[in-house]
Formats: sequence, C-alpha cells, structure tokens
Amino acid sequence: MARLEEMFDVTGKSVIVTGGASGIGRGYAEIMAEHGARVCILDMNPVGIEETVAALGGDAWGHVVDVTDRAAMKAAFQTVADRHGGIDTVFANAGIDAGPGFMDTDGNRNPAGHIENFGDDHWDRVIEVNLTGVYNTVKLAATHMKAGIGGRIIVTSSVASQINEAIVGTPYMAAKAGVDHFVRNMAMELGMFGILINCINPGPFMTNIAGGRLKIPEDRAAFEAQSLIGRIGTLEDIKGLALYLASPASSYVTGAQIAIDGGSRLRIT
Ligand SMILES: NC(=O)c1ccc[n+]([C@@H]2O[C@H](COP(=O)([O-])OP(=O)(O)OC[C@H]3O[C@@H](n4cnc5c(N)ncnc54)[C@H](O)[C@@H]3O)[C@@H](O)[C@H]2O)c1
Repeated sequence: MARLEEMFDVTGKSVIVTGGASGIGRGYAEIMAEHGARVCILDMNPVGIEETVAALGGDAWGHVVDVTDRAAMKAAFQTVADRHGGIDTVFANAGIDAGPGFMDTDGNRNPAGHIENFGDDHWDRVIEVNLTGVYNTVKLAATHMKAGIGGRIIVTSSVASQINEAIVGTPYMAAKAGVDHFVRNMAMELGMFGILINCINPGPFMTNIAGGRLKIPEDRAAFEAQSLIGRIGTLEDIKGLALYLASPASSYVTGAQIAIDGGSRLRIT
C-alpha cells in the first residue's frame, strides 16, 4: 500500500493556476507550492500576482494574461512548458461574477437581474471568461499533456451549475452549467491519454469575487444560512480537495463534479 506522503506527492510538478492571484485560485497555488510543486500563476491582475508570488516564495512566478486572449494564453503556456520542462497540472479557475440575480437576499424581486435589463455585453463577457476561458485553458492544457505523459486538469465550476439560485446572476448559472458538461465530455475524450479532468464545485467562499460581496453583512448572513454547518468557506477549506485531485490519491477519478459547499446545495431550492 502506498504511504500517505506518496499518495499526495506533487513534488516538482509543473503547475499552472489561472486566476491564482486571489481567492480560491490563490488557495490552489498555496497548497501546491507548499507541497513542492513549481507554480505559475496566470492572472489579469499584476498587483495580485506580485503579492501572491512574494507570499508563495520558492520558485513560484506569474504572468499577466487574460484567459480570453487566446494568443497570449498560448504564448504563456509555452513559456511555462519551456521553463518547467512540461506541464503536469492545470487549474482552470479564473472567473467573474455576473451581477445580481432576479431576487435580492431579502426575498424581493430585483429588476437589475431581470433578463430584459441585462446588457448584452455583460452576458457576453461572463460567458467569455467563465465558459470560453475554461475552454481556452483546457485546450492548451490537453495539447501540452498529450505531448507528455498525461496530467491533471482541475476546473473551478460552482454549485450554481447544478441548482437554481435566484440571488446569483443568470449568466453565471448558464456558464457554470456549461463548464460541468464540457468537463464530462473532455473526461471521455482525454482519459485514454492519461489526462484526468474534474470539477471542483464550490458553494460560498470568502474571496474577492463580486467586489467581495460576501463581506457585506446581509449577503454574508444569507449565504451562511444556506450552509449546513453555518459558515462560509475559507481558503483553507479548498486546499485538501485541490491537493487530492492533483495527486496520485485521485488516480481513478475523472469526469467528476465534486461539491465543496458546507452542504448548501441541499438547502437551496
Ligand atoms: N467565491 C465563491 O463563493 C465561489 C463560489 C463558486 C465558484 N467560484 C468560482 O471560483 C473561481 C475563483 O473565484 P474567486 O471567488 O476566488 O474570485 P476572486 O475574484 O477572488 O479571484 C478571481 C481571480 O481571477 C482573476 N481573473 C478574473 N478574470 C480573469 C481573466 N479574464 N483572465 C485572467 N484572470 C482573471 C482575477 O484577477 C482574480 O485574481 C471562479 O471561477 C468563481 O466562479 C467562487
């Protein structure tokens, strides 16, 4: 039987984390770097990258790139492959919020979230970052991993992919549902190349998404009330699952959607 350290060994792995300069992606970057992986953060936020890379230490580094910019993403992946000698693990995590849902947390309807009031450019951008950005990232990851000996792709979806949440913007729900199905299809296509791809589906986590919406007391209380354990997730909560999906411990797991939500999805209707 494998020893515990061997089961969770990611030492020396070449890792990319999109959106790794904040929130959940930063949690991924931290746990991988803490366990000896070589981490590159791809993110739009140069200040966030600088702070995160400094905090990670070691040989962590970063690159300013928008996941929707295909040419820049292709160049960034090649740079990582050249510097690390390949790409083993990719977290496709960058994402944005979609504004208000059609209901407020106080139970009233919110016209700002009604379909007739959506800006079309708003819909386009959420789909572009949260769905097409995942496609761009997974395509590059799979291309590099096929040329090597396989790898791990971990996509941040959301519990919003599988349940209906009236207080979350509709474009976000649609994008995340698309992400889940895309990942299942990719798992079927990529399994024979030794590439495992899975979704992490978080519930509410305390991050900077939506301008730090969960730091607003009323919003925080609404999301806390959904959790079966009465609290919002922290970055420490995400790390175990991230390490599991990146390590030998999950060698027979692919095409999965794993909720990490304090049970919120069981209460949301
Ligand atoms: N926080 C939650 O409650 C929650 C719940 C479910 C799913 N998620 C998902 O988790 C992922 C991470 O979100 P978070 O909550 O940590 O948010 P966050 O805002 O704290 O971090 C997101 C990071 O992604 C980067 N980013 C955004 N758009 C980008 C782009 N086009 N190209 C490159 N980088 C970009 C940002 O600069 C930021 O560093 C997202 O996919 C989000 O949908 C979050």
